[in-house]
Amino acid sequence: MAQPSISAATRLACVIGDPIRHSLSPTLHNAAFRHLGIDAVYVALQIRPADLRTGIAGLRSIGVMGFNVTVPHKERIVPLLDSVSAAAKATGAVNTVVNRNGKLHGENTDVIGFARALGEARVELQGARVLLMGAGGASRAVMAALAQGGARSVTIANRTPRRATTLAKQFCTRQFECSNARIDRLTATELESIDLVINATSVGLLGESYFELPFEAFKKSCVFYDLIPRVQTDFLTQAKRTRHRALDGLGMLLHQGAAAFEIWTGQTAPLTIMRTALRRAIRIH
Ligand code: ATR
Repeated sequence: MAQPSISAATRLACVIGDPIRHSLSPTLHNAAFRHLGIDAVYVALQIRPADLRTGIAGLRSIGVMGFNVTVPHKERIVPLLDSVSAAAKATGAVNTVVNRNGKLHGENTDVIGFARALGEARVELQGARVLLMGAGGASRAVMAALAQGGARSVTIANRTPRRATTLAKQFCTRQFECSNARIDRLTATELESIDLVINATSVGLLGESYFELPFEAFKKSCVFYDLIPRVQTDFLTQAKRTRHRALDGLGMLLHQGAAAFEIWTGQTAPLTIMRTALRRAIRIH
């Protein structure tokens, strides 16, 4: 269905972050609005950290339909909202906000987005032993999804070890063993036992090379998942070079976006349309 042209009745959705120009979310959501004939438009807005409070007040006052939140605002936005969901509380981070009659409600669709992306790729979380690189906001969503999915253990490696310790403590249960470690301290046996390696750091977002990881030391069935929505990150290239299965973050981006879309519109997200739009945009970038 053709999207109506922008008029005085057109509703606004957006993503806020800093930097924001690399965001693929406008592509994703405008394709879905267009396909379903929804009179709404989605834009990317740069809001600097110091301006977050006034930025949110502005979005509230203009009656925004909803918005996504990305780096570096996912945690700092929580106290500025009227309410947050259980997933947002568990992760301490919000990536989706819906405007309900002037009240801003925060959700975290990264958790379900990650779980759905892995499910779609037939990666089994139940009983899995995981190595997680990174301990920021994205890692917290991953930890929540791993715990919900029944993963057996996770070892968190982070540049700043203190953050990895805090994250491990927050999620550790009897069924879900969480520890932190330096990669260069892991034994060959420990590396061999890993089923899934996840890059949840921001390394690679701007095309940087990945830091040291002994890719050849992991068993052949070990899967490498990069949260970064680029087909050719250094992390994935190296995993492929050692003949491991390598999955990019497009699936997570798609599914977190689809879940956000459904929260805002109450309509089923057109997944195929959104996926095609994303793939096309990635090729053009
Ligand atoms: P996000 O919400 O996207 O997770 P974040 O909270 O800023 O963003 O976290 C970014 C993650 O990438 C952190 O784990 C960070 O490590 P630190 O906790 O030590 O900051 C990691 N990271 C960023 N740049 C990195 C680099 N050059 N080398 C290794 N890790 C890096």
